[in-house]
Amino acid sequence: MSQGPITSTINNMADVWEAYRDELDGVECQVRANLDSSVALVNTVAGHILNSGGKRIRPLLLLLSARLCGYAGRDHHRLGSLVEFIHTATLLHDDVVDDADIRRGLRTARKIWGNQISILVGDYLYSKAICEIVDFQNQGINEVLAEACKKMAEGEVLQLQYNGNPSMPEADYFKIVEHKTASLIAAACRMGAILADASDTQQDALFQFGQHLGVAFQVTDDTLDYTANDERLGKALGQDLRQGKASLPLLHLLHHCSEQDRLMIIDRMDTRTLTTEDLDRLIGLMNDAGSIAYATDLARAYIGKAQHNLSLFEDCTAKRALLVVADYMVTRDR
Ligand code: IPE
Ligand code: IPE
Ligand code: MG
Ligand code: MG
Repeated sequence: MSQGPITSTINNMADVWEAYRDELDGVECQVRANLDSSVALVNTVAGHILNSGGKRIRPLLLLLSARLCGYAGRDHHRLGSLVEFIHTATLLHDDVVDDADIRRGLRTARKIWGNQISILVGDYLYSKAICEIVDFQNQGINEVLAEACKKMAEGEVLQLQYNGNPSMPEADYFKIVEHKTASLIAAACRMGAILADASDTQQDALFQFGQHLGVAFQVTDDTLDYTANDERLGKALGQDLRQGKASLPLLHLLHHCSEQDRLMIIDRMDTRTLTTEDLDRLIGLMNDAGSIAYATDLARAYIGKAQHNLSLFEDCTAKRALLVVADYMVTRDR
């Protein structure tokens, strides 16, 4: 499929998955091909998480960005799979940092094989992705990816620095989110454009698109941590507060609740305890205080900005798909 004229009607995510199924299958082939360590345990652990049903949003954004800029080759499958490797590495590390037991409905790698293996296989996936990406001999791609990896680590460290702190300024929440999540999503979009030899203006537009999308994506993830159906989400609910993380809905609530409720929340953050009853009560408080609506509206505003970033591109299938993916970022339930 090329950028070309409008060949398919794209109205929702099902249309996107359908129109780009072959492309995404191409990414899956590359994911499998790249899992080729001579150390069998590396493949087992990496395979456990890589084949557990991730949404593949980052490779999808990369390939759509490439197509939007007129790319007609096939290297985007391989590059997309490598971005997914980096994402997977961050998840292996993140689950150690967050003490997470469940991801994508399955026991986390750290729960099955332990924290040490989880960290080391995460390191392997980072390194493997870099080895393969260097092979593209494209300085632009190298730089974008290196910068994103650096930013992701900074974001996680800043987040840890604020752990257990209910007084985190909202500006620092956004700094964390821009670093830990939006940087890789923005990099995936720019890498697609670079692959297509797009102009600097187009590259910058797609990077900004990804940056705005990434913020909305993480704000939605942080909202889903309170509001989702846990089976559908595949992760435990209330995990952020339980791990001492004050995310956007909670920060809003802390500024809009009674002193008594504020003390209760701080106590649960301090003691790392949050029962199902506490969670229900918290969700009720968030709904009453408008905290969920606040976060949702904010995420939607970022999606609006992201969609605006695409206005310099002409209407085509890839553009329609990107606009639909943008909406999905905030309407998703997993
Ligand atoms: C989870 O990312 C980590 C965040 C940045 C919120 P995804 O929601 O893309 O995870 P998978 O790959 O689909 O499981
Ligand atoms: C995303 O934050 C972490 C990364 C960018 C690696 P979360 O800690 O909220 O992600 P989940 O909820 O565990 O997937
Ligand atoms: Mg986590
Ligand atoms: Mg989360």
